Amino acid sequence: MSNLLLSPPPGPLEVPIASPGADSSTAAEVVFSLIIPTYKESGNVAKIVAQLTQLLDNFIPDRYELILVDDDSPDLTWQVAQSLTDKYPQLHVMRRQGERGLSSAVIRGWQVARGKILGVIDADLQHPPEILLKLLSSTLDGADLAVASRHVEGGGVSDWSVVRRLLSRGAQVLGLLVCPAVVGRVSDPMSGYFMVRRSAIAHHRLSPIGYKILLEVIGRGEIKDIAEVGYVFQERESGDSKVTWKQYVEYIGHLIRLRSQGRISRIRQKWPMRRFIRYGTVGFSGVIVDMALLYLLYQGVGLGLTTSKIIAAEAAILSNFFWNDIWTFADMVRRQTGWSNRFKRLLKFNTICISGLVLNVLLLQVFFNVIFGQNLPYLANLITILLVAVWNFWLNLKLSWRVTAVEQGR
Ligand code: GDD
Ligand code: MN
Repeated sequence: MSNLLLSPPPGPLEVPIASPGADSSTAAEVVFSLIIPTYKESGNVAKIVAQLTQLLDNFIPDRYELILVDDDSPDLTWQVAQSLTDKYPQLHVMRRQGERGLSSAVIRGWQVARGKILGVIDADLQHPPEILLKLLSSTLDGADLAVASRHVEGGGVSDWSVVRRLLSRGAQVLGLLVCPAVVGRVSDPMSGYFMVRRSAIAHHRLSPIGYKILLEVIGRGEIKDIAEVGYVFQERESGDSKVTWKQYVEYIGHLIRLRSQGRISRIRQKWPMRRFIRYGTVGFSGVIVDMALLYLLYQGVGLGLTTSKIIAAEAAILSNFFWNDIWTFADMVRRQTGWSNRFKRLLKFNTICISGLVLNVLLLQVFFNVIFGQNLPYLANLITILLVAVWNFWLNLKLSWRVTAVEQGR
């Protein structure tokens, strides 16, 4: 490959099974192709390219390539990058003029890539290059996918505001509810820093929508073995983020599409009846705890009714947590041992139970006043309790006791 600009391939967003330039028998085989998507990153390219090159030259000299895919940035990022190719012969630049968007930029890059391992990294140095080799080693060791994660050991964010953290986590929780089969497979489904084995995604038609290309890869590819490496999301030094509200809306659309048409849409989950019965049994035991304590505190100790009820309800929540943790979800607990994990589960369970209580009161109002017209208050209450139980159970299954199906410690 000479260092002319690469032209974006036309046609569907599908990565070929064999690398396009694989026939050139004289050149050393390219093992790893890393895509750097850019839009208005002229201030960052020299630095990121220098850092990546230094790392990779020591690890797999001549057997990697960097492909920068720029969407015709007004600050001429592509030109700045192209001027670096004399110094860095492993760097190739694609200037796209028709198509736009982060996801399709990455896929277009993969389509012309020659490596059997395909990766992506942000250009703005928010993804620390230092962990690149860990990700690469994991894939060379056999993982189909290696993801840089903010939510495993060694991971985190720099100094994000509470709002930003909540938005990020909220997006993840939403994802877990809409499409757990994809979002639940990694601890950081929003990551844009990962590597995937070409054969795992080759010949799977990928969609260009959304900012989160990782969701496409997990949802449509053939991913079995996943590795994760912790990293701290750095602050931007130059340029601006391109994320706006539009990306949040797109994200939700993306989840719904994946749920209905990805590979995982064919894997239908049965309602986990056995687990639900156990959950219900524990729930009943909680009612007894609640009643007994209410009686004890209100009648016996002589506390006020509200105080008594709050203490009784919280005690029931704690007791339910205990039984659910050692019985209902015991199999899932075995894969997330330790006190800090247990405490996190308890916090989630407690929050969900309290939200269930609020829902209970609201639904009862609706059933009693609107649907049954003030008749049958006990039937209304029974239906409400059943509905809230299902809701609580599902949230707890998918959020509190969820196991990330990732093999740690590769
Ligand atoms: N070619 C192309 N086209 N590149 C784009 C486009 C586009 O339309 N939009 C953004 N990029 C490039 C940016 O230049 C940058 O290199 C990278 O994609 C990430 O864009 P940012 O705008 O910096 O994203 P961010 O830092 O706010 O968001 C990141 O969030 C995740 C963590 O929450 C994502 O980009 C992820 O990669 C990251 O892990
Ligand atoms: Mn960024």
